[in-house]
Amino acid sequence: MVAADRLSEINIADPAVYERGVPHVDFRLLRDHDPVHWHPWPDRSSGFWAITRHADIVAISRDTETYSSAAEHVLIVDLDPDELEARRSLIETDPPQHTRLRRLVSSAFTPRKVAEYEQATRNIAAGLLDEIAAAGGGDFVSAVSAPLPINVIVSILGIPAEDAPFMVELSNRLVAGTSGVRLDAAAYGNTTPLSHLPFDSPASHALFEYGRRIGRERRTDPRDDLVTRLVHAEVDGESLSDIEYCNFFQLLVFAGNETTRTAISQGMLALLENPAELDRLEDDPALVSKAVEEILRWASPIMYFRRTAMRDTEIGGVPIRRGEKVVMWYVSGNFDERVFSEPDRFDVSRDPNDHVTFGGSGSHYCLGAWLARLEVRILLEEMIARGIRLELADAPARARSNFVNGLQTLPVRVVSRGSRVPA
Ligand code: HEM
Repeated sequence: MVAADRLSEINIADPAVYERGVPHVDFRLLRDHDPVHWHPWPDRSSGFWAITRHADIVAISRDTETYSSAAEHVLIVDLDPDELEARRSLIETDPPQHTRLRRLVSSAFTPRKVAEYEQATRNIAAGLLDEIAAAGGGDFVSAVSAPLPINVIVSILGIPAEDAPFMVELSNRLVAGTSGVRLDAAAYGNTTPLSHLPFDSPASHALFEYGRRIGRERRTDPRDDLVTRLVHAEVDGESLSDIEYCNFFQLLVFAGNETTRTAISQGMLALLENPAELDRLEDDPALVSKAVEEILRWASPIMYFRRTAMRDTEIGGVPIRRGEKVVMWYVSGNFDERVFSEPDRFDVSRDPNDHVTFGGSGSHYCLGAWLARLEVRILLEEMIARGIRLELADAPARARSNFVNGLQTLPVRVVSRGSRVPA
């Protein structure tokens, strides 16, 4: 029996904890002994309910009437109503506003539409892999994981390719806003209070400004891209307001970038640490689709999202009061022994693989799931086709964030296929 004081010592909210690695041992203790766990939040006024079992995450995600994404923020932070309003994007809305906003963009992310991005994605992936192979290695994050998704989303949005590095820089600064370290409020010429900006980051201001400028251009000079569609979109005679458009633009740049980049970095690290699984994949490329799902489960790039209870209710017999924070730890649900056999084993042939990496189903299920899958699959296919084998050249550096399971660096060396001899 686990002592109550051991459970009460668990701290899964502190960003610094994640610099050392995801606290899987603590998550397992919670799943087994206190799956609906009241977690105090040091330095803040209120705590939250930590939901760690897969089944509870799915049930909460589906019940948008009881668990709101709009009443408060979807991160753990407490925000004033005006701060919340200024930062609101698709992800922080409930029906019917959510339904209206989602309809404005969903057609750009259907499996059929996403298939149209395949060739462009393949070209980008091939170019990046050729470069790192020619260099004999380097930092996989900055050489491959970061540029691949940002170049893809930039081309979908219609942003000039030369601005992609600026988007990477801004996206990095967004995640820094979840580190618990206060950022320079005046960066990028920002004058808005940080609490009114997504991720408390001045980079959001820069993204808003950039998005506004490109939006103005597309209003007068429409093209076949997503920004044009957003600024001209109408649903029920209504179009996006300026702040809705800005927050949406910012969300797409962040969501289309940081998340997939983390999946690629963590997936590569898993393959380097489990070379036998990479052998299996190379011997049988038909396993690639299953490997993609396993990478997504293993990486759990977004570790949690939060809801707010709209009425008194209960989860697994634990009473939850109206207004309380309910935090769904996807990174725990993805390792729940009740759903996954041997969850701590990285298995490229895992089937079934009902991970909650893109959310626990329901109306907020990740809009970009097919795009993220496409990018990870193509990268694996191109690596295998090129016979590129990597090995770790140094220890990777983890991000200081309780939200994104990020790697800041992943130093690799290129070795010839199947051999450990430097190429
Ligand atoms: C491996 C990569 C990705 C992961 C792990 C991920 C994760 C998630 C999760 C967990 C949610 C659910 C939020 C909730 O339930 O409140 C979500 C929503 C969303 N994702 Fe992703 N995502 C990824 C890639 C992408 C990409 C490539 C895009 C698009 C460009 C994207 C755009 C969005 C948007 C717009 C939403 C909000 C959907 C809504 O509220 O209706 N994501 N994502």
